[in-house]
Amino acid sequence: MNGHESKPADDGRILEVRGLTKHFPITAGFLRRVVGHVRAVDDVNLYVKAGETLSLVGESGSGKTTLGRMIVRAIEPTSGEIILKLDDSTRVDLAKLQGEELRAVRRHFHMIFQDPSASLNPRMRVRDIVMEPLLYNNIAKGDDALELVRETLKLVGLQEQHLNRYPHAFSGGQRQRIGIARSLVCHPELIVCDESVSALDVSIQAQILNLLKDLQKGIGGVGLSYLFIAHDLAVVEHISDRVAVMYVGKVVEVAETKALFTKPLMPYTEALLSSVPIPDPERKAGRIILKGEVPNPANPPSGCYFHPRCPYATERCAQEAPPLREIVPGRFAACHYAETLDLKGMLRLHPPETAAAPV
Ligand SMILES: Nc1ncnc2c1ncn2[C@@H]1O[C@H](COP(=O)(O)OP(=O)(O)OP(=O)(O)O)[C@@H](O)[C@H]1O
Ligand code: SF4
Ligand SMILES: [Mg+2]
Repeated sequence: MNGHESKPADDGRILEVRGLTKHFPITAGFLRRVVGHVRAVDDVNLYVKAGETLSLVGESGSGKTTLGRMIVRAIEPTSGEIILKLDDSTRVDLAKLQGEELRAVRRHFHMIFQDPSASLNPRMRVRDIVMEPLLYNNIAKGDDALELVRETLKLVGLQEQHLNRYPHAFSGGQRQRIGIARSLVCHPELIVCDESVSALDVSIQAQILNLLKDLQKGIGGVGLSYLFIAHDLAVVEHISDRVAVMYVGKVVEVAETKALFTKPLMPYTEALLSSVPIPDPERKAGRIILKGEVPNPANPPSGCYFHPRCPYATERCAQEAPPLREIVPGRFAACHYAETLDLKGMLRLHPPETAAAPV
């Protein structure tokens, strides 16, 4: 295993992912014979502390969504561990749970998706959408459940009169609030946000980001933790305590946000920070576009996966894969030359306060 997780998992870590891997089979022909594998997530080690926001960044196809979906067990890992600390301080390995056992712990984590409209059933009223997880997880029913729904809607800034409306009656930002209420109603410890604000207009994004931050500080004093997947580096800088950078299914750098943004230790991170996101009218969010081709995760390059695009690559890089190592306390990078390279950080375009200030 990489050096990243050498400490015991008792320093406030709510989630600890060890050696997490997802290989999707590639099939061909009439008999759908397996001819290869897409290594979407490959031996990832990460942790999230209680009350913190860890962001995941990386180009399209780097495995962020696959990692998030494995953590909430929307898809089954190929191998690895997903250790979640529950509110009674016991730990479970989500990767090993199935059926009823998995169902029994589902209330502790939730995933919020990019497109609020697609994740809300258009034929259900808001009260039923938000109540559903309470019934599914056997937490409350009847009037008790309705009371919890009311409280949660209030928490996300929606009102009593919204209870009986259907999702189409709401704006994009309000629909995302409904999605957040649904995620929160069971009081989970961990929320995975996958591009949860990318589809929204900038001013609405700011409101939702501020809501997520307020909820993190306030909810029952339990310290809600977020795994936050995003393309917009200004948003990431604003919302994260730490940032993990993914490249072709692997985590290649992890650091506290300010340290990573001001002085990256891995050339891929430097390249990401220097890229200006390209506005994409299809998805509204800016997409990170770097020079050179993203390797095919079914057939990645030898050695360091970044070597064909890295301006600092040497012969060694094409032969030897750099493991993720602790370079200075709390900072991890997968580069043979992390100690000696002098890499550039990002020029701050927007101070964080104005990047997501309420409007
Ligand atoms: N169900 C699947 N079957 C086969 N391959 C898949 C499947 N889901 C994802 N992949 C592949 O796994 C890799 C990682 O995809 P993933 O969606 O996790 O990336 P991502 O970092 O979330 O990208 P984006 O930024 O575009 O959302 C990609 O090569 C993708 O094509
Ligand atoms: S190991 Fe080599 S190719 Fe990989 S990031 Fe470092 S310098 Fe570049
Ligand atoms: Mg994704």
